[in-house]
Amino acid sequence: MRLLITGGAGYVGSHVAKALRQAGHEVITFDNLSTGHEWAVKWGPLERGDLRDGERLREVFARYQIDAVLHFAALAYVGESMREPYLYFDNNVAGTLCLLRAMSRASVRLLVFSSTCAVYGAPQALPITESSLLSPCNPYGESKRIIEQMLHWVGTCNGLRWVALRYFNAAGCDPECETGELHQPETHLIPSLLNSVLEDTQRCPIYGEDYPTPDGTCVRDYVHVTDLAEAHLRALGYLVKGGESRSMNLGSGRGFSVLEVVKGVGTVTGRAARVRVEPRRPGDPPVLVAGIDMASRLLGWQPVHSSLEDILSTAWAWHRKSAMQLGTYA
Ligand code: UFG
Repeated sequence: MRLLITGGAGYVGSHVAKALRQAGHEVITFDNLSTGHEWAVKWGPLERGDLRDGERLREVFARYQIDAVLHFAALAYVGESMREPYLYFDNNVAGTLCLLRAMSRASVRLLVFSSTCAVYGAPQALPITESSLLSPCNPYGESKRIIEQMLHWVGTCNGLRWVALRYFNAAGCDPECETGELHQPETHLIPSLLNSVLEDTQRCPIYGEDYPTPDGTCVRDYVHVTDLAEAHLRALGYLVKGGESRSMNLGSGRGFSVLEVVKGVGTVTGRAARVRVEPRRPGDPPVLVAGIDMASRLLGWQPVHSSLEDILSTAWAWHRKSAMQLGTYA
């Protein structure tokens, strides 16, 4: 198929682009490079543009006969969304509305959407399933929930068929180190811990050790980006075969505390991460763990690369490679 990947220069989008190309699809990346990287677009052409630019989207849909869209382009910093809610609703919600309109005009009816566990907020029960209450606790999560509702109504009224994949904590990197994770600024736990191993001056904060969890630190469900990529391929196949539009969780189904991840980084790198305990970060729920039965049942998907060791060793290989290229790792 000929596929348009919005946000294909980003972390998850570039890993999915690689998997789709390897499966024999043609991939065209649409990205404004605001947080993505030109070097990450390796599996097809880059069409530079912003989702809110309807004319630019129209041009791209006219140039390529697109069969389906995989939509990753979004701002995704929870903390930033609390400071700049307008930015998040504008970029994420208005941008998606523009994309849906352009898809409709070009008669493109299939969409795989990058959603998030942030649509649930702090869960009332674990594991979190797709029927758990949607109660986002920040504008980022709310922007994704609104988009899911737009998909529902555009589907009902206009024939769009879609799957929204709600990722838990995307982690790890391409085992062949052809693409990887680079956020500026870096706020995520695993890359921040690895940076503290690589650079003497870096300290990774531990946000709170007084949570109601076994060791007092937050528990998260880390899922390997290679597993996420496989799920996108399967979601596309599911839609092509006529599968019903729906949202699905993607996680490993297991939770690890911040301190367990810190320990894992020490084991995988052979060096202790440099950490310091800080107060809780606003908006962090104590525990998030996915129920993944739906993706397993409907997509035949299982997370096979998502052991903590696989996640940390692939992320470590990528970070070491990037640091060597930048000359910051001895
Ligand atoms: N953490 C630290 N120190 C850090 C960074 C994070 O202790 O330097 C902790 C956080 O408090 C959290 C865990 O490590 O408990 C994971 O934090 P990340 O920042 O790596 O990821 P989040 O869980 O905050 O974010 C992820 C996704 C978001 C999504 C969110 C939903 O990246 O897109 O889950 O809660 F919105």
